[in-house]
Amino acid sequence: MFDGMPDYGRNDECWCGSGKKYKKCHIDFDQKLEDLYWQGLEVPTHDMIKTAADIEGVRKSAAINVGALDYVAERIGPGVSTADIDRWVHEYTVAHGAIPAPLDYEGFPKSCCTSINEVVCHGIPSEDEVLKEGDIINVDVSTILDDYFSDSSRMFCIGEVSKERADLVRVTKEAVEAGLAAVKPWGRLGDVGAAVNKYATERGYSVVREFGGHGIGIEFHEDPFVSFCTEPGTGMVMAPGSMFTIEPMINIGGQEIDMTDPNGWTVRTADRSDTAQWEVQIVVTEDGYELLAW
Ligand code: MF3
Ligand code: CO
Repeated sequence: MFDGMPDYGRNDECWCGSGKKYKKCHIDFDQKLEDLYWQGLEVPTHDMIKTAADIEGVRKSAAINVGALDYVAERIGPGVSTADIDRWVHEYTVAHGAIPAPLDYEGFPKSCCTSINEVVCHGIPSEDEVLKEGDIINVDVSTILDDYFSDSSRMFCIGEVSKERADLVRVTKEAVEAGLAAVKPWGRLGDVGAAVNKYATERGYSVVREFGGHGIGIEFHEDPFVSFCTEPGTGMVMAPGSMFTIEPMINIGGQEIDMTDPNGWTVRTADRSDTAQWEVQIVVTEDGYELLAW
């Protein structure tokens, strides 16, 4: 095979674990991928394609991820510290038999990321950081259940926020929806990034280049990198079974970021303008996509 996989006999068991014969299962899928590959397109390798069993495993992990964010949503407000949020996420996740993926991930010290106002991503929960009326915060939750990974994040407006902040939060969410609308089986991943980018920039915002979405499922971060600064008609072919996140970081001011915080994690906008992010996790299906985590 073009991706170094063995060539399967028509009567062999399919590589996807369905138990069906190859000729009754992924033979046409592989032919299509191979044709696209020889046309010069970037195609996923078999190890990036999730099997039905993988998808079922991720669904269960994602249900806990969504539940943890719902649990936060019920409790967040003025006077809450980001350490409180971290405790809720940890509490909910372990109570459901799962593990918070951020904890100890490359040395990250907490169970979720909490990023307030000008913090772009990877804010570290702290007792000293107390939410006040007018703040906007991204809470980014990731879960491991039975070795399957899920990942999503939401924005929360604390009490009454300014129109500027409310608009930023809303437009960022709508940009994710524009990205989702561009997800088409056998379409190109660059179309998704381009749709997000167009939606945000047409409304006067800028899009962070350095961070983006990612493949996920078997690992926390898998290929492909999902950029939101892409051209239509470019990037990986979204074959059914491709699983990834859409998680643009959108700024009111310039797109440049500042990664010099001594804690090694907290990322801010270079100009300290406000920034927002929403993250969803999807799997591409034969006829569209399935939303797994939000
Ligand atoms: N949840 C983040 C993402 O969307 C990753 C956070 S890594 C951490 O990819 F270590 F900072 F938690
Ligand atoms: Co992510």
